[in-house]
Amino acid sequence: MTVDLLLGLQWGDEGKGKIVDVLTSKYDIIARFQGGPNAGHTLEFDGIKHVLRTIPSGIFHKNSINIIGNGVVIDPVVFIKEIADLEKFNIDIYSRLLISRKAHLILPTHRLLDAASEASKGKAKIGSTLKGIGPTYMDKTGRNGLRVGDIELADFKERYTALAEKHKSMITFHDVDLQYNLAELEEEFFTAIEQLKKLTFIDSEEYINNAIKDGKSILAEGAQGSMLDIDFGTYPFVTSSNTTAAGACTGLGVPPNKVQKVFGIFKAYTTRVGSGPFPTELNDETGAKMASIGKEFGSVTGRARRCGWLDLVVLKYAVQVNGVTELYMMKGDVLSGFETLQICTAYEYQGKVIKHLPYNIEPENVTPVFVEKKGWKADLTQMTEYDQFPAEFKEYIEFIESEVGVPIKIISVGPDRKQTILK
Ligand code: GDP
Ligand code: IMO
Ligand code: MG
Repeated sequence: MTVDLLLGLQWGDEGKGKIVDVLTSKYDIIARFQGGPNAGHTLEFDGIKHVLRTIPSGIFHKNSINIIGNGVVIDPVVFIKEIADLEKFNIDIYSRLLISRKAHLILPTHRLLDAASEASKGKAKIGSTLKGIGPTYMDKTGRNGLRVGDIELADFKERYTALAEKHKSMITFHDVDLQYNLAELEEEFFTAIEQLKKLTFIDSEEYINNAIKDGKSILAEGAQGSMLDIDFGTYPFVTSSNTTAAGACTGLGVPPNKVQKVFGIFKAYTTRVGSGPFPTELNDETGAKMASIGKEFGSVTGRARRCGWLDLVVLKYAVQVNGVTELYMMKGDVLSGFETLQICTAYEYQGKVIKHLPYNIEPENVTPVFVEKKGWKADLTQMTEYDQFPAEFKEYIEFIESEVGVPIKIISVGPDRKQTILK
């Protein structure tokens, strides 16, 4: 029996999809516990790139069961497109993908509300993916939401209409010029709902706890990253769910004492998409070089990701909040060819040097303190063993391990499944 967690430690897009896919053969069940189609998890193998939004990244392995937990929010319209993409690859989705009845539904009006809310904020906008995530979680905690299980009820349509009507007046309240054809969006939504019904709905907390009793192994797949957590992230520039370890307990019904390992995944540098503070951001040629080599464009919105040096203040904070037991470092290959590299180990804050994350990390409040490391020139992407790495890359890895106090067990040197090195 094992329940292990895999979580992003920065601002998302760390490479969670790739690593879940790599680890899936070791597990019976892969389960997503929060977030929704704001996520874009990329997997690459056999020369093909797949991007998953709501479906767990274990889906490509024949023997795995994949669960969408109660903590996830599902947009039926996005979801059926995802299913259609997977069907092209002959994946037996219907027998291997199970959905919690308690997962909440994203309505077309949730997406519209997201757009209206962002437009009304002007410069202060969150930079949301506009997938309706915030409004759907607001309805969940506000006790108004519709859940997957409601689709099976006779009065689903009435419930839908009551909620959509409420949303319409809320959209008006935002007083922004939003053009939309709701009838069209609703038609698309109800067509998708019919297709969604072909999948198996389960009481996932019951299913998962029985699996634990039967000695099955489970990997919980996080979405977003710890700095986007609703409680511990850079609020209000965050998403609307708990992306951190505790979210796996509430988002799946896994009791805390059943969690064993916590895998924390991070990029060898830092990226962020959307608004909000980012102390080590590089608004210069170096940042542009990282973005270009690392192909840092969002897998969901195509937006350019902001890039900067690795921030160990953030990393240590995320390790602490999640109880990370093993670190996985991604995209080290992107740093090949930089003469020198900077690693942020502390912040100057109110005249002092501090090593913890303060309440406020806006640029006017914190100045990063860097340690300089020598770069390396070698191309890492074809390397298959730790011993092949240049001394400077090993020094980079070992410095992080000594600062954070947690071993780095996997080093990824390219997007493909095979470009994964165990240490
Ligand atoms: P996720 O949301 O955490 O699953 O990450 P994304 O898929 O949004 O973004 C990670 C991007 O980096 C994807 O395009 C991956 O294919 C790519 N990637 C993952 N690991 C590596 C790596 O080690 N090196 C390089 N160069 N690219 C990687
Ligand atoms: P994965 O799982 C990166 C960011 C958005 C925005 C903020 C709020 O692929 O790592 P939302 O749509 O949730 O209201 O957006 O969070 N964001 C992500 N950034 N990766 C993600 O997911 C993200 N999901 C949301 O850009 O700044
Ligand atoms: Mg992503």
